[in-house]
Amino acid sequence: MGDETVSAALAGKRVLLVVGGGIAAVKVPDLIRRLRERGASVCPVMTRAAAEFVTPLALSALSEEKVFTELFDLTDEAEMGHIQLSRQADIVVVAPATANLMARMVSGMADELATTVLMATDKPVMIAPAMNVRMWLHPATQRNLAQLQADGVSVVGPNEGSMACGEFGPGRMAEPMEIVAALERHFGQGPLKGLHALVTSGPTHEPIDPVRYIANRSSGKQGHAIAAALRSLGARVTLVSGPTALADPVGVDVVRVETALQMRDACESALPADIAICAAAVADWRVDAAGQKLKKQAGQALPDLKLAENPDILAGLSGHAQQRPRLVIGFAAETQNVVEYATAKRAKKSCDWIVANDVSPATGTFGGDRNAVTLISAAEPESWPPMAKTEVAERLAERVAWYFGHGGE
Ligand code: C5P
Repeated sequence: MGDETVSAALAGKRVLLVVGGGIAAVKVPDLIRRLRERGASVCPVMTRAAAEFVTPLALSALSEEKVFTELFDLTDEAEMGHIQLSRQADIVVVAPATANLMARMVSGMADELATTVLMATDKPVMIAPAMNVRMWLHPATQRNLAQLQADGVSVVGPNEGSMACGEFGPGRMAEPMEIVAALERHFGQGPLKGLHALVTSGPTHEPIDPVRYIANRSSGKQGHAIAAALRSLGARVTLVSGPTALADPVGVDVVRVETALQMRDACESALPADIAICAAAVADWRVDAAGQKLKKQAGQALPDLKLAENPDILAGLSGHAQQRPRLVIGFAAETQNVVEYATAKRAKKSCDWIVANDVSPATGTFGGDRNAVTLISAAEPESWPPMAKTEVAERLAERVAWYFGHGGE
């Protein structure tokens, strides 16, 4: 095999390729060929259904490896257990990821070798969904997609176009070269390669006493998605996160904190950074916390909570005397006059861009999966249509890449 296409990102990398049972499996031989051209090795694992669309022999010939198909193949279990199989790769790629396979991944099923490997792996997982447009748009699939992303799975595609079933719309598996490009970005060859991004996410908890605290409704979904999107464009990412129920984004350095003061200190320690994106909902005030649990006592005065103002982390980074990141981005959660208030906030906090969003209860932004934002920069405000928080994150990361690609203007 010629080495003129060897890619720095993929050379020597081992891809465990889980092949699902859909017609898009016919693109898998080409995917294997292109990965191998770039110096990666590919170990195919087929679901039972996949073998209906492409033969194990074809994948074995192209990968020059044994193709794994069944969980209870005793010879294979003796030679290589499924745990070992799942661990010896640098990444697990699921292509095509059918609606059924995505649902099984979400439920944690281990009903055959392919799903067992996906459960047992400790490596990043990337899926390339492929299915009929109705199946893709079905709320169950969209729920499963959101859950997989929340679990740290990265997604490439699907594309829009005409489908094998004769319908038109989103659901076509990403082309082999698009999957290759996503893998190259994953392995650090994206446009943000060499840059360090600092992201804050989630709420802060401000203790009142050892058992109580003041908090807010931030889920951290938007900030975590931004960290993942910057990472997938090749940045080194430090995510400073308040308490959330979210999994750590794959490949991101996560610093977990509770209070605003801890978040400020963690951000300071993470400098220098080229990019800072403050998506955390930092509490404005902290309480002069009691050392002991406050007691409710009949007839006694109510406890007097003394508040102190928390440092503004965003303003601190924007005005940093020695180590101001080249691009500082804040969020403005408003319930009215969004653009006007956000524009004033950009000036007040001396940040470069503000991502403004309407968090009035009717929008369901807080805790929800979707967001409608307006980007406020030195140029005209730019309103983006409502979209998934993951898409807001990807679009913002693309804008950041564009900014650095144009000399930071
Ligand atoms: O002032 P306000 O809280 O509306 O500003 C929101 C923006 O400022 C967000 O980007 C948030 O992460 C950041 N912020 C901060 N530290 C604070 C308060 C807000 O970084 N103490």
